[in-house]
Amino acid sequence: MTKLTRDKNYLETYLKSQGWLEENETIKSTEVPGEGNMNFTLRLDTGERTFIVKQSRDFVEKYPQVAAPAERALREAEFYELTSEKPGLKAMMPNILGLDKENNVMVMDDLGAGSDYTHVYKKGQTIPEDELIEIMDFAADLHNGFSAKTASKVIHNLKMRELNHEHMFVYPYLDDNGLNLDDILPGLAEIGKMYKADDELKAELEKMGKLYLADGDKLLHGDYFLGSWLKTKDGVRIIDPEFCFFGPAEFEIGVTIAHLKMADQSEELITKALDHYSAKAKLDEELRKKFTATEILRRILGLAQLPLEIGLEKRKSLLEESRNILTGN
Ligand SMILES: Nc1ncnc2c1ncn2[C@@H]1O[C@H](COP(=O)(O)OP(=O)(O)OP(=O)(O)O)[C@@H](O)[C@H]1O
Ligand SMILES: [Mg+2]
Repeated sequence: MTKLTRDKNYLETYLKSQGWLEENETIKSTEVPGEGNMNFTLRLDTGERTFIVKQSRDFVEKYPQVAAPAERALREAEFYELTSEKPGLKAMMPNILGLDKENNVMVMDDLGAGSDYTHVYKKGQTIPEDELIEIMDFAADLHNGFSAKTASKVIHNLKMRELNHEHMFVYPYLDDNGLNLDDILPGLAEIGKMYKADDELKAELEKMGKLYLADGDKLLHGDYFLGSWLKTKDGVRIIDPEFCFFGPAEFEIGVTIAHLKMADQSEELITKALDHYSAKAKLDEELRKKFTATEILRRILGLAQLPLEIGLEKRKSLLEESRNILTGN
């Protein structure tokens, strides 16, 4: 297994061996294209063109002691391959220029040095309505576009789902998981204790977890939140479908809405986003709300923290609301 590094000579040799770099091309510079945790992701500049290289390894790039499914870049590539059957979807994602299945490396178009939407978690920031509508449109077209019954390929991606399941349904509710919530926000640990001791809630979460791991009908991006949407000079683009699978649309939209709520976006904007999606694609609102609740709980209480700026009271009320939705109280 080749482990890519930022060494330019090494990269040139590797890229040429794959036929991804012309004989006369050289790598002039490299840079990390943006915030990322899971993978080795690099922008390469030949002086004539730039492109992005992404390698997945059997660990998490930022936390090498944490194991992760090594072949996730291949699942990501499968998503791009499948969605390229639909021109409207393909136009909103990078083109794949090459895939090395042996070493789990993917090379793709550089969408430019835009930024993702994670700045929207910051106080006072909002996502422009027309851009959010494009994002909801993409999801509706994706979910309408593929059914497991007819798709040319069904992606299971079970190992990535199991990893996510651990962080969504198990880890946040373990008594001694090693995470001190007070380090994130003083007062949060005391609140977290209540949720860890809530057997009624945990029983509901177990059901949601089973639903997440069961195979479903729609092709989902799988991680449809502010970090997977890029704002570029040509418009909104969608990246990083490494958690893709065929499942319930309610999971995808549930997660999206959870992030809009944690980013403190207005009820009005969130309703518009939901209405827009629902006008194009079918959604069971009750199930969607339960997945929204699940995602809020795990992001506030679990390991995969976000750069949230909402205070303790707001977090507390989001947690309570989520608990009530899940338990029906
Ligand atoms: N094709 C691309 N064009 C331009 N920028 C890109 C492209 N792919 C990725 N980036 C930039 O690199 C960042 C990291 O990419 P990506 O999210 O795919 O990596 P990751 O390791 O899977 O991240 P995470 O740990 O958040 O899942 C993105 O937020 C984006 O800023
Ligand atoms: Mg990723």
